[in-house]
Amino acid sequence: MNDLQFDRHRRLRTTESMRSLVRETHLRKDDLIFPIFVVEGEAVKNEVSSMPGVHQVSLDYLTPEMEELRDLGVRSVIVFGVPKEKDEKGTQAYCEHGIVQRAISQIKQDVPELTVIADTCLCQYTDHGHCGIVKEGEIVNDESLELIVETAISQAKAGADIIAPSNMMDGFVAAIRRGLDEAGFVHTPVMSYAVKYASSFYGPFRDAAHSSPQFGDRRAYQMDPANRLEAIREAQSDVEEGADFLIVKPALAYLDIMREVKDRFSLPLVAYNVSGEYSMIKAAAQNGWVNEQEIVLEKLTSMKRAGADLIITYFAKDAARWLSE
Ligand code: PBG
Repeated sequence: MNDLQFDRHRRLRTTESMRSLVRETHLRKDDLIFPIFVVEGEAVKNEVSSMPGVHQVSLDYLTPEMEELRDLGVRSVIVFGVPKEKDEKGTQAYCEHGIVQRAISQIKQDVPELTVIADTCLCQYTDHGHCGIVKEGEIVNDESLELIVETAISQAKAGADIIAPSNMMDGFVAAIRRGLDEAGFVHTPVMSYAVKYASSFYGPFRDAAHSSPQFGDRRAYQMDPANRLEAIREAQSDVEEGADFLIVKPALAYLDIMREVKDRFSLPLVAYNVSGEYSMIKAAAQNGWVNEQEIVLEKLTSMKRAGADLIITYFAKDAARWLSE
């Protein structure tokens, strides 16, 4: 063995203090964004059956939930409204007193330390469950833009700190940027769902948000999971249109895309650790098949290693607790 030449990589792995000296990636509580589903009604705290530990809450339960988040050290929340009334044009998405508008202004009033991100889409609000206007079975782009702009402005008026459009219509960043500027919200950033795949990992979310399409699927506007270069084109357009953050969604099966987007563009990058990714781990943990804490911290760290600056995750509260231990 004496004449063998090789490197001693294990020197840097001998103790925890040695490992922490050379650790390249750090997960921080500041990196986490917590998604919340707000429903109409009173005293509602419904656990979503396909997402154990995730609840839909009514406005009277919202403030305590947000105070808990702040006390755990998480700084931001992304709000999804689940309205009672749905119609063809998703009127409740841009109505002044819609559930999401009321939720946003309540959080800003009661827990102003939190950064409030508004998910800006129509699918929870339309009776057909698509993210835009439907004409003859088609989701029409430009007319849908008008409604998404109205939605964004109404959310900014309600006090949203960041607008996060997710309906995947072409030109949505340009349209929203112009709309916000004209309405006087020049300082409200746009966090674009720039790269959003048509993914089966969204299944449990659609239970939580009651947003399943009633016919067809979303493949005429969300991206084909097989495509990589198309993700670059999508991100490129959003950068040119004035986005302030880029989201890649889902996260776990798309870490390669995240790395590429991070290397090519200088905007803050957000990973959306989606519902299916959450529920798979929950199910395995409930069966005792994996160690939930270890596996969650490993996957969140992996998203950061792949280039994410921020992570939207249903595990935000748990992760914040574990990071404080
Ligand atoms: C659409 C939207 C979706 C998610 C958030 N906003 C996906 C969809 O239904 O197409 C999914 C999030 C998740 O799965 O956690 N507006």
